[in-house]
Amino acid sequence: MPSEPAADTRLRHLLSLDGLGAARITQLLDAAEALRGEALGGAGLRRVLAGRTVCNLFFEASTRTRSSFQLAAQRLGADVLNFDVAASSLSKGESALDTLRSLRAMGVEAFVVRHAEDGAVAALAAAAEPGTALLNAGDGRSNHPTQGLLDLLTIRQHKGGDFSRLAVLIVGDVRHSRVARSALHGLRQLGCRDIRVCAPVGLMPDAAELAGCSHGTALDAMLEGVDVLMALRLQRERMEEGRVPSVAAYFNDYGLDERRLALARPGAIVLHPGPMNRGVEIASAVADGPQSAVLDQVANGVAVRMAVLRHLLGA
Ligand code: NCD
Repeated sequence: MPSEPAADTRLRHLLSLDGLGAARITQLLDAAEALRGEALGGAGLRRVLAGRTVCNLFFEASTRTRSSFQLAAQRLGADVLNFDVAASSLSKGESALDTLRSLRAMGVEAFVVRHAEDGAVAALAAAAEPGTALLNAGDGRSNHPTQGLLDLLTIRQHKGGDFSRLAVLIVGDVRHSRVARSALHGLRQLGCRDIRVCAPVGLMPDAAELAGCSHGTALDAMLEGVDVLMALRLQRERMEEGRVPSVAAYFNDYGLDERRLALARPGAIVLHPGPMNRGVEIASAVADGPQSAVLDQVANGVAVRMAVLRHLLGA
């Protein structure tokens, strides 16, 4: 078996959780945990990245990821450039790499990039000059590593650090979800042995991606003993023709409502990366209910992104 990458060196980029190793993932989670007190305000860490510049480069829409990367960088004292893709020379045909190189020449050291194409952020990282850190804020359906870390941190806070004892169910449009892929990468490496994937046939990932998971199409039957439920949005922007289910039928078969939540283990928590479509994949009573950890995820997102920025920038 290949040995896990050592966690005592510094990562240059964060492109995926795949292959990072349990030690590295735990190191980043511990760092985020230690930052939680400062993550939601306060001025105690404003010197950590003072004089450094972080650029948000989002080719796809975002609420939580973009805002929390901005707040994370600012709460560490960095200058933040929120690059406006639509109003930039990208609209005149300039390539993303030339854009990045120009911003690098202005002193930007870290680029937080979201892109609709699978592998786009890794391709930029491969071509970027030394001294440039790339943080993948979601590429196509492939990876969303900081979301994976914040999901793991939220699970750990609620359920403890022994992932081998937990049953985690991911339900919904798993096929098009980079959130689910990063969660799967992280959960496997932290030793979770009971990972269940529930989706309609057309929204199920390919078999190779489900190695080690149990999977099925009948949600009620998969809920017994589940400690963590992750619901996902129908990502219509990534669906091929014919995969778009009707909303009413979808909620009936896959919507997370109170009746279904009661089939899971008592005290199970509910995760959702947002944006939530209430009444489609999740009922409001569950999204806002006592078992919902959705806003904990959002709050943890700031701490996780602070930890990752600090790590990559060596501060
Ligand atoms: C997700 C994303 O963009 O991948 N949201 C997020 O980052 N929290 C999920 C989605 O778009 O459904």
